Amino acid sequence: MAERKQWKWAADPSLNKMEFTKLEKDGLDVIETIVNTYSKEGFASIESSDMDRFKWAGVYQQRPKDGHFMMRVRIPGGILSSEQARVLAKIAEIYGRDLVDVTTRQAVQFHWLTVESLADIFDRLASAGLSSFEACGDCPRQIMGNPLAGIDPHEVLDTRPIVAELEKFFLLNRDFSNLPRKYKISVSANIHNAAHAQINDLAFTPAKKVMAGEEVIGFHVWVGGGLSAKPYLAKQLDVFVRPEEVVKVTAGVTTLFRDFGYRQKRTHARLKFLVADWGPEKFTEQLLELVGELEPGGIDLTSGWNGGYFYGIHEQRQAGLYYAGLSVPVGRMNAGELNELARLADEYGDGTIGTCNTQNVLIRNIPEAKVAAFREEPMIVNRFKWQPNTFVGYAVSCTGTEYCNLAIVETKERMRSLAQYLDDTVVLETPLRIHMIGCPNSCGQRQIADIGLQGALVKTSNGMVEAFDIYVGGTLEEPQFNRKLNARITVDRLGPFLAQLVTLYKADRQEGEPYWRYVERVGLSHIQGQVDAILQPA
Ligand code: HEM
Ligand code: SF4
Repeated sequence: MAERKQWKWAADPSLNKMEFTKLEKDGLDVIETIVNTYSKEGFASIESSDMDRFKWAGVYQQRPKDGHFMMRVRIPGGILSSEQARVLAKIAEIYGRDLVDVTTRQAVQFHWLTVESLADIFDRLASAGLSSFEACGDCPRQIMGNPLAGIDPHEVLDTRPIVAELEKFFLLNRDFSNLPRKYKISVSANIHNAAHAQINDLAFTPAKKVMAGEEVIGFHVWVGGGLSAKPYLAKQLDVFVRPEEVVKVTAGVTTLFRDFGYRQKRTHARLKFLVADWGPEKFTEQLLELVGELEPGGIDLTSGWNGGYFYGIHEQRQAGLYYAGLSVPVGRMNAGELNELARLADEYGDGTIGTCNTQNVLIRNIPEAKVAAFREEPMIVNRFKWQPNTFVGYAVSCTGTEYCNLAIVETKERMRSLAQYLDDTVVLETPLRIHMIGCPNSCGQRQIADIGLQGALVKTSNGMVEAFDIYVGGTLEEPQFNRKLNARITVDRLGPFLAQLVTLYKADRQEGEPYWRYVERVGLSHIQGQVDAILQPA
């Protein structure tokens, strides 16, 4: 076990229980215990305090708590090689009952793992330069980025080296393995905010500034965003950060969170609460004290929001090369499909695959001469479509009761079949983003969806029934979270209800008006009126 840090908050008696667990033994120390003890002695040997620390190894108990685990693997910036994809597929095949999920932060998740398998899985991941460590827990998580970095016609610089540096700096760094709560970073130089800056704890977005007569490309900095039950949009700081300063600034922000973040209540421990209390000015002052002077903000290079979607086959920054943005319905595939994706990446592209925060994938660097054959591949025609139907293409779902201990309702399969039903029922050619979540934690990012569906239970004469609360009008284009309608719809009525709601939008919308903008124009009370009419037919 590594030498224990003397944290300044250790003497505070008002710390929450988890803080004492972390002080007693650092989360990262559990990795060694898993490898040396638990993976040999089995589930029954796991001490309950260590079960909380398993998250630092990237592992969580899945539902029901009967000895199986979920594991999240970091895919820094959402770019992986075909070799890495094959290693992931193998793990799913041997240990994970053939299941691979792409998450809303571009990571990959397995289910059904046993503790006995973990040491071997850590080794397999390491052999491919991958890691599950700190993919969960109170530490810097998977770094979100632009899955098109390096080839994106809409990026102002290649962020791959920056993401790699951040990953190297933070992964297993014991200076930052005991944060008050989870900590989510996003770095993207895509001008359409591909990495959802406003809903991360710390985010970098593209900017430029003329300094000493020279134009410099760098970043603006956002802090204090996050979803879950109390969502906050991040605040922009008045600083300009050169690419070579990103790691320093990230270390500074993370140090502020570590040393000043709240550790009394876990529900009040995210960076967003500190930023809300301090405000961006005080936060900036404190940051500059730690990292030294930074230039004030420059010119913002972001324009609009692409929602994290890249569908289609598009020209890259490099002439003659194309990328293909592909749909993976609700992010779920099997090992064979992941292997097939790896083959397609090798045969048509340069062997790299992107994971998108919309639970989708993309293939990079396809020469023009190969595009026609690529489009005819059975997997592309039938499964990972580059022109998916609207609802299947823009549906996102969290894990739900199938595996999640916090879930109130089933989500994943329900969102998949609901999207299919809507595609079969309503013809809509323009994107309409529907996100489904099984509880208020919002892993499926309900708040930024055009239509957000949040699981709930209702009492009926037949007992408790699964239902969804409906939220409308979320976007990061002109950032705002969706708002709740007075409508808790039981699952048997959900499909027809949404079909009617969308049909009304289709009839009323103006040319090119996305759903969130329509909600803004007609107003929430107008939509509530429509909902009331749908629910109480004359
Ligand atoms: C066993 C399954 C899971 C559990 C127990 C779990 C737990 C949680 C909890 C407790 C939160 C709220 C965090 C907070 O209050 O700060 C949260 C948020 C979140 N989780 Fe999960 N999660 C699970 C699976 C997933 C999956 C499958 C995804 C991706 C598809 C995911 C991505 C996220 C995201 C994006 C958020 C919102 C982050 C934010 O607050 O900004 N989680 N999760
Ligand atoms: S939103 Fe809730 S139900 Fe869905 S995966 Fe997250 S914690 Fe589980």
